[in-house]
Amino acid sequence: MEENKKVIFSGIQPSGDLTLGNYLGALKNWVKLQEQYECYFCVVDLHAITVKQEPKDLRKRTLELLAIYIATGIDPEKNTLFIQSHVPAHSECAWLLTCSSYMGELGRMTQYKDKSKKAGDNIGAGLFTYPVLMAADILLYQTDLVPVGKDQTQHLELARDLADRFNKVYSPTFKVPDGYIPEAGAKIMSLQDPARKMSKSDDNPNSYILMMDDPDTIRRKVNRAVTDSLGVVKYCDEQPGVKNLMTILGCITGMTKEEIEAKYEGKGYSEFKSDVAEAIVKELEPIQNRVNDLLVNKKELEEIYTRGAEKAEYVSRKTLRKMQKKIGFIPR
Ligand code: AMP
Ligand code: TRP
Repeated sequence: MEENKKVIFSGIQPSGDLTLGNYLGALKNWVKLQEQYECYFCVVDLHAITVKQEPKDLRKRTLELLAIYIATGIDPEKNTLFIQSHVPAHSECAWLLTCSSYMGELGRMTQYKDKSKKAGDNIGAGLFTYPVLMAADILLYQTDLVPVGKDQTQHLELARDLADRFNKVYSPTFKVPDGYIPEAGAKIMSLQDPARKMSKSDDNPNSYILMMDDPDTIRRKVNRAVTDSLGVVKYCDEQPGVKNLMTILGCITGMTKEEIEAKYEGKGYSEFKSDVAEAIVKELEPIQNRVNDLLVNKKELEEIYTRGAEKAEYVSRKTLRKMQKKIGFIPR
């Protein structure tokens, strides 16, 4: 490991099946980062239990998500891949940071407001403190950059504030991390309502494509995607459905908006949609095959997450000990 590489940390919750949004907005970018940075990619199972999880589903999804990381092209030799609950420093650091967080700043988080609305009368306290746990994840590794989608910028801002606050109250302890938001494809929208983000928690399965959807399902969903009656493939806000499909196609093929517009000039949506669908199928099929292989032979996965946890444990402990000492806890 080269000492001078900048550190990247990111994570995804094993709380549902991954969508094409997760893939294009997060995973695909991570693959590009591994050459240049020292990366920690975490399956954040502690975050997942902020909403109710069926134990057997959580187990299955945690392993599947790790397999997806690897199948997508994140090399376990070059990066630290681990499961959050395997590294206790995350929970411990989160408590220490909770004690320097304000109710007001946590209450302002839009994700909390959205999720607590759905939770009804009994809002889990974990939903409220969730961004503090995320800050712990990031700060424990002296992270320089955090690649996340736009929806996570508010949480990242909190991590920066908490780092800064701790550094000021005690003494410099944490690196203050920056966001790393990719330019194109940062936000993939719902296929049924392009004003909303593509999300696995959407009630309508036609609104999202899952990374593990089979080719026919992908074709059917893209074919049903909401467009408009203008009939021109043009990248503009007046045509949000078409714009979204163009973003998807561009992210996968590397084509620019201009190239896509030129290619489909004078052609209807049907050819365009069919090409978008085929691009997605071609991109996801090899990944799906590798995921299935990894899940059949769990030994390889076990080795990877065990090794990852050892490395993560070592690095995170160092930061946690510093925090504990500065706060005034007696070392054992
Ligand atoms: P989540 O599924 O909300 O846990 O998000 C995991 C990661 O995927 C985060 O970095 C998100 O910002 C990203 N992500 C989720 N949905 C989308 C989307 N529709 N478009 C782009 N990025 C997304
Ligand atoms: N909150 C993030 C999400 O929902 C997941 C996450 C947890 C994360 N800890 C993190 C992302 C640390 C980046 C860094 O997408």
